[in-house]
This record gives sequence, C-alpha cells and structure tokens, in this order.
Amino acid sequence: MCGIVGYVGAKPVVSVLLDGLKRLEYRGYDSAGLAVVADGQLELRRASGKLYNLEAVIQRAPLTGSYGIGHTRWATHGRPTEENAHPHRDASGRVVVVHNGIIENYLSLKRALEREGHTFVTQTDTEVIAHLIGKYWQAGLGLADAVRQAIAELSGMFALAVISADEPDVIVAARFGPPVIVGLGQGENFVASDVTAILQHTREVVFLEDGQVAVVRPSEVTFTDFAGRPVTPPVQRVTWDPVLAEKGGFKHFMLKEIHEQPHAIRETLAGRVSLDEGRVYLDPTDIPDADWQAFTRLVIPACGTSWHAALVGKVLIEELARLPVEVDYASEFRYRNPLLDERTLVVVITQSGETADTLAALREAKQRGCHTFAICNVPGSMAAREAHGVLLTHAGPEISVASTKAFTSQIVALYLLALHLGQCRGTLSPTAVMKHVEQLLALPVKLEAALEQDAAIAELSREFFRASDFLYLGRGVNFPIALEGALKLKEISYIHAEGFPAGEMKHGPNALIDERLPVVMVMPREVGHAASELRYEKTLSNLQEVKARDGRVIAIVTEGDTEAAGLAEYVIPIPATSELLSAVLAVVPLQLLAYHIAVRRGCDVDQPRNLAKSVTVE
Ligand code: F6R
Repeated sequence: MCGIVGYVGAKPVVSVLLDGLKRLEYRGYDSAGLAVVADGQLELRRASGKLYNLEAVIQRAPLTGSYGIGHTRWATHGRPTEENAHPHRDASGRVVVVHNGIIENYLSLKRALEREGHTFVTQTDTEVIAHLIGKYWQAGLGLADAVRQAIAELSGMFALAVISADEPDVIVAARFGPPVIVGLGQGENFVASDVTAILQHTREVVFLEDGQVAVVRPSEVTFTDFAGRPVTPPVQRVTWDPVLAEKGGFKHFMLKEIHEQPHAIRETLAGRVSLDEGRVYLDPTDIPDADWQAFTRLVIPACGTSWHAALVGKVLIEELARLPVEVDYASEFRYRNPLLDERTLVVVITQSGETADTLAALREAKQRGCHTFAICNVPGSMAAREAHGVLLTHAGPEISVASTKAFTSQIVALYLLALHLGQCRGTLSPTAVMKHVEQLLALPVKLEAALEQDAAIAELSREFFRASDFLYLGRGVNFPIALEGALKLKEISYIHAEGFPAGEMKHGPNALIDERLPVVMVMPREVGHAASELRYEKTLSNLQEVKARDGRVIAIVTEGDTEAAGLAEYVIPIPATSELLSAVLAVVPLQLLAYHIAVRRGCDVDQPRNLAKSVTVE
C-alpha cells in the first residue's frame, strides 16, 4: 500500500526520488518523505498529506545528495502525521529506513530496545526496524549484515530500503511479503515497490523473492537470502510502455483508464483466440491437460472489484463449461476451513497480484493440494509467480485507485478461461467456441461505441451529483455489474450506494425508494435469447415498481430498446452483444457516471480518501 523508491547513481537524486514518488502516490497518500546523503551528511524531508506538501517543504529547504530513498505512506501504525512519515532514523541518526508492510512483534521489540536505552520519537513499527538495524550496525556489522541480523528478529511482512550516511552509495533492500523491485541501469540502479516508479529510467528489473536481500550500488547489485547466501534472481524485461503510466492529456488517470478499455481488451485477447480453429489458447501452465478435464468444481477468492469480476466469472463458467463455481471473499476464505480437494481448481483474481488476503487464499489452496490459477494484471507479481497457471490481463499499469480497465480485462480473461474449460470438458464444440470468439473480437469496437456516451453522462451527472444515496439493480451476469457500479460511486464520490439483484427489491430495499432516490437499472437484453428476454421482462417490471414509488430511474439498455426507454427517466444505450458479454459494456456507463459525479462534487478522483491501491496488508 505504501510506495518505496530508492536511487543510487549520477542523476540528481532528489528529482529522481520525487518523480518516482509521484508515480507511486496512488499506493498511499497520507504522508511522504525522503532521505538523501551528500558528503556523509544525511538529510531528511517529510510532510503529512499529499506529495505536494513534501515538494513545498523541499522548495523551502532544498537538499542534494548522491543516493537516497523515498516513501509515500498509507498509515497503518500511527496517525498520518509528519512525525510518523517515513524515512525513520535509528538512534544514531546515521541510518534511515523506509518500509512497506506491518511488523507484528514491533511492540515487544520496542520494549526490549527501550530497556537497552533506546528512545523512540514516533508510534510506528518502522522506527523499531531502524533502531534494530542501527543497533547491529553500531555493533560493527556492515549495513547489509545489520539489515539481515535485524530481519531475523522481525515477524510480519516487510519491504525495506535502508541507507546509512557512513556507507556511501549503497542501498540495502529486503523483501518478505510486499514487493521489492530492483531496476538496473547503466552506472545507476533503482529500488522500488512498483515498476511504474522506475519505468521511465529502465525496463530491466529483478523482482526480489520473499526472503531475499539486495545490496544496490551504482554499478553493481548483489543478491543474497536472509542468511547471507548468494542468490541469482532472474533479470526480467518489463514490456509496459512508460507512456501508459502518464495521464496523456486526460484530467484524471481514471478517465484515461476508462477510455483505454478497448485497447486493454484487444491486448488481453491478442494471441489467445483463433477464429478459424474455434479455439482459445491459455498461456502454458503447470496444470496437466488431464487435470483440466477432471476438475469438478472451481473456487474463486478475490477482493473488491476483482470479487465482482469473480461473480461475473461464475455465470460465465457455469454457463459455458457447466462446472459449479463458488465465489468467496479472499478475507473470508483464508479464515474459514474451506472445502477443497485435488479436483477443485482455485482461481484467484487480483489486478495487483499483491493483495494480502488474496495471496493468503492462494497459498492456503496450494497447501491443501489444489491446483491454482491466477488472473492478474501485474507481470512478476506474487500471484503471477506463485500460481500453477496464470492468465495475465494486458491492461497495462492501472494508476487510479478505482479499478476500471483491469475489471473489464478480468471479465474477458474469465471468458477465455470459461471457453478453455468448455473445450477441455467437451461442453463446447469448435463451432460454439467460434461464435463466442467472434463476439469477443467485436467487443473492443463496441466498447468504443459505449464510450461515446461520455459527454451525455457528464451532462446527466449534473442532475444527480447532489444525491445522498443511489441504488443499482441488475440480474444474472449484470447483478455483479450493479455491485460494481455502486462500489465505483461509493469509493470516488463518497455517496452511499448499494447494489442488489433486481428481484430482491421486494424483500427489503423497496422501502428505500422515494422521489429523491436515483435507481440505476442495468438491463441490457439479448434479443432472441429466451432466458435473457425473460430476465429482461422481469427487470422491466421491477423498473415499473420503482417508478410507481416515485424513484428516479436511470436505465442502462441495449441500443434500440424502446420499452425501457419509455419508462425510465434517463436511458443510457450500450451496443448490442450477447447477454454474457453485456457485462463488459454495461459497466462502462457506470464507471463514467461515478467519475463525472465525483468530479462535480470536487472529489479527489484518482486518490479517494482512506483508500490506496494494492492492499498489501490485511
Ligand atoms: C476498487 C478496487 C478494489 C480492488 C481490491 C482488490 O475499485 O480497486 O476494490 O479491486 O482492492 O485488488 P486486487 O485486484 O489488486 O487484488
């Protein structure tokens, strides 16, 4: 959740760190800080609140250096004050640490250090790490050894970057849990929690494994395990284009990412479907072919928006592969005693590949002997590396905290998984797969058409941005879209919103309806598809019920639908597609509605309060 960046090299270190922090701010924006060393003098600057506060501090009190580390924080231990902002110093003030994660035993370590005479100035667990490293460093160990010695006493999760004023041009980084990336340059090297921080400098990176330490110097990086034994993690080339991590003329990353959805879907499909053969191809996995045929059940743990994608996936997989699917909150799954056996495929869905609960679910499933499969957007992330199979969504970096293009790409990936399972199990003939592939390939152009409603939705937001509550309703594959629409609105506009299956209204939510309540009804129809028509008719009567109670209906409908248009106060059309794929199109107007309402309310769209991208702690 926090962001880490470190630089050692010939460039002006402060601007490299600030630039990296800017690109990492989406990971946490409660406070920020950096530390640099020049001529043996270590200097710190920190500020509470957004990064521009830190920039202002630096403008008032400029600093220079030849190496340094920076941090942007999402508060876990201690309030988001300047005092609690990273980096934190050891007792000597010569060693500083930035940290992402949580140290579970920090209180007992703190008490023990206090007994040895250490005095702490903050409430953070990170200051305890700094003091512990400082203790070993003062006892005569080199910085890397002192870090390894301290790590042996920590329990919890950590990504660390450490520098000392007395070991010039060295950054020591360590990982147990949250990601640490070492970026390799010419005569310069980088440390980061996330590739976006260093993408403009280098694409050659090493993803530290859990239990590894990197000692980073300008012209050399060495790697060891926590015991100090040398290791050689592979160097990887990141294919993400650095411009994808820029706003590119859009006012917010969220709007840009909404508009990138056609591209994200094209990329996610590329090389994985063959219209001629009527086949889909997943990337190679460690799951033997025979096991793909033998699965009797799927379990999908995920969180937040990815959990909504999982609900869409359940409909797709049950329909296309005729396999039962159970969707679980990863945070529940890991603390239950889930029923799993070797014929259960556990599929985790995670944009970041870092979400602590989802990773715990993945590990639990592996421990229980299940095959695991990850749908993930970040190459090299933990989920992508640990699962037996992975399907990378090629949405590119998602910077806005509110997930948009990752969500629609996840649905498309789930569609591919459903078709693959259908192929393996013989529930789908090549001709049937061909029809699905045709629909999938047509999707990006239809998404482009759905995005043409942007201006109309911006206009519509005028009407509704003062509402205090919203309801979202949908059926079948579009019930999770109602949930997702409600989540998007909540998280970026702070308006209370709930999603329900349309058929549940009479069982309680109807009581909420009055003339002030906007009700967004997600009701596309697939003409000629009996089950879809039936669901549509049922939702149409729900619409009438809302109207009869003076609710204000905004209906998301298939182009040309005059029935719903005649009843709803506002209609947003989306292009016709199969009902199964309508979820991908129907969510677009909901993303745009949430976006424009949040903008009108003056909210910080890309960095909503109390949230951060990548929830690497529970
Ligand atoms: C909402 C949102 C979150 C994430 C959730 C899981 O817009 O982005 O709800 O979907 O934190 O994150 P990942 O997919 O990275 O595991």
